Amino acid sequence: MEEIDQSILAEAANLREQLNRHNHLYYVLDAPSIPDAEYDRLLRLLQKLEADYPSLQTPDSPTQRVGGEPLKEFDSVVHEVPMLSLDNAFSDDELLEFHRKTTERLKLPGPFSYICEPKLDGVAVSLLYQNGILIRGATRGDGFTGEDITENVRTINSIPLKLQTDHPPELLEVRGEIYLPKAGFEKLNREAVAAEEKQFVNPRNAAAGSLRQLDSKITASRPLEMAAYSLGQIVGEDLSEKGQLVTHSGTLAMLKQWGFLINPHMEVATDIKGCLGYYQKMSVLRNQLPYEIDGIVYKVDDLSLQQRLGFVARAPRWAIARKFPAQEEMTRLVGVEFQVGRTGAVTPVARLQPVFVGGVTVSNATLHNQDEVKRLGVQVGDTVIVRRAGDVIPQVVKVVLEKRPENAQKIVFPDHCPVCHSPVEKVEGEAVSRCSGGLVCSAQRKQAIKHYASRKAMDIEGLGDKLVEQLVDQELIHSVEDLYQLEIEQLANLERMGKKSAENLLLALDKTKSTTLPRFLYALGIREVGEATARSLAKHFGELSALQVASQEELQEVPDVGPIVAHFVHEFFNQEDNLKVIEGLCHCGVHWPALEADNDNALPLSGQTWVLTGTMEVMGRSEAKEKLQLLGAKVSGSVSAKTDCVVAGPGAGSKLKKAQELQISILDESAFLDLLKDNNLF
Ligand code: IVH
Repeated sequence: MEEIDQSILAEAANLREQLNRHNHLYYVLDAPSIPDAEYDRLLRLLQKLEADYPSLQTPDSPTQRVGGEPLKEFDSVVHEVPMLSLDNAFSDDELLEFHRKTTERLKLPGPFSYICEPKLDGVAVSLLYQNGILIRGATRGDGFTGEDITENVRTINSIPLKLQTDHPPELLEVRGEIYLPKAGFEKLNREAVAAEEKQFVNPRNAAAGSLRQLDSKITASRPLEMAAYSLGQIVGEDLSEKGQLVTHSGTLAMLKQWGFLINPHMEVATDIKGCLGYYQKMSVLRNQLPYEIDGIVYKVDDLSLQQRLGFVARAPRWAIARKFPAQEEMTRLVGVEFQVGRTGAVTPVARLQPVFVGGVTVSNATLHNQDEVKRLGVQVGDTVIVRRAGDVIPQVVKVVLEKRPENAQKIVFPDHCPVCHSPVEKVEGEAVSRCSGGLVCSAQRKQAIKHYASRKAMDIEGLGDKLVEQLVDQELIHSVEDLYQLEIEQLANLERMGKKSAENLLLALDKTKSTTLPRFLYALGIREVGEATARSLAKHFGELSALQVASQEELQEVPDVGPIVAHFVHEFFNQEDNLKVIEGLCHCGVHWPALEADNDNALPLSGQTWVLTGTMEVMGRSEAKEKLQLLGAKVSGSVSAKTDCVVAGPGAGSKLKKAQELQISILDESAFLDLLKDNNLF
């Protein structure tokens, strides 16, 4: 490294400090104290110094906000503490019910406080600070694994590159929402129109699109903002000892002091009445805010109470999102089609005159079932109110009876399946009608195969919906086992396929034969068994054979499994046809490593924390992570004294360096693969 004069070092540090301070005054406090031109002058001085002495460039330098070299792809990031989502309440009654349950669980003598926060409509982000310096930004992804967007978050001016505290924890993860203010969104779309480019449908999509740019210079050009709303992992400093982390509102106050933008409308309500009042107040204020909010988040303010309440599968029990009424528009129902789903449910789908609602153009909406059609009293030709709330599928909520035309037609439910013509049956006590065709019905089979191939199930790359439809229509496959008998010539002759894609698909099919029990269980498409339940079942029973013979009572011992799920699981494994499919799949070579039932200590890496860094050339990071977890290890995103081993692929940087400093064992990819081989995982 070049020798740099002390006075130059001091000048650079001084410029960085001044620029970061003015940046905070401008973007976070909205209170600039110098003219823009003066800020630009200081920035140019620092840029010049860094150009002359490149080693002056630090990760917290304001010059880093302009974006850097484009990336080839985003790395994945494992969230040390999963990024969960929130349960929703759509009415005051639902909020009161949440409060009632919370009160019941807490058994406190008096009322307790909630913090009321605007629910910002953007993209959740995790920011990791090491000794006070921003070292990583990541998207939420599926809550467990996200994408590394460090270069992009550095360009967002309201994100501090350095925490404003002299005693930062060794590691601190701050979470919040990145969003595009309404004005920024409009400006972006005006520019898109001028450049004859596609416009963004809403600010949230624009924010998400801006963050997913491999070229951070593009992100830098978008006026994104970030408001912090919680913490993730904390390592080192015990913040609670200093009384900083006793309440959520206290945490926010601390984050504000440390330089984060905290939404100014956050308020503590001392009882539930205050929460209801806050909702009313914000519903009025909503349209005047310079950014979009889609509801209110209520969180129990006392952190020890939060801890007592804990979590369910995907959401904390101490918080709830009260959604604003969804956006609604009027349009005409031009027809009804009947779709057959994976479980044979025959669903009426409304064909609508296209209408722009909730930020997208809607031309279909579900009518759910016969009861719902009756409740709405809807007929073809009617003018209806369509609602699209957030990401929820569009709904027909109301018929405008005054506008009913004379030639409106009643909706007639088919008594035979529109696809396989088997009789449609209505089960007593159930609202849905189902096609009785089972595996005879090609619609049901198609849906089951699509589900089997989907990303969270067997993740068969290249086997998209259209291809499944062709394969079933041309009778090349009947059920999932047949996928493994497909031959290259059969595939290569299909529409939009060729030899190369056929080869790739066969490779993908072969590769996914080596799977995990949770994935396989989810892929089977058992009713009411989503990803989280499949994971719990696999963990509890350890092996499929034990699950197959479990009674309904035994099934209900699994966390999150109630009588309904237990019934469906039990029924599934009592059907000869299903057992044959499973047997067929195993016969084709589908396999997974055995898990030790609910006995983590018995696994080879139980109790150990591993870190993956650099590129994994043979297997992707998420696969490597999954395998490590199967061996009982906890996989963390950052290296600390608690790390037992680091797997470092090519391109590993700071984490590898830290592991070396801390004298932690390091494996390269081939040694890691050997370990997997020893454990029959590769
Ligand atoms: S707290 C475990 N607070 O809403 C609690 N979320 O479905 C995690 N959001 O993914 C979230 N404003 O992107 C929280 N003040 C706020 C929020 C907020 C917006 C988003 C966030 C999250 C989603 C929850």
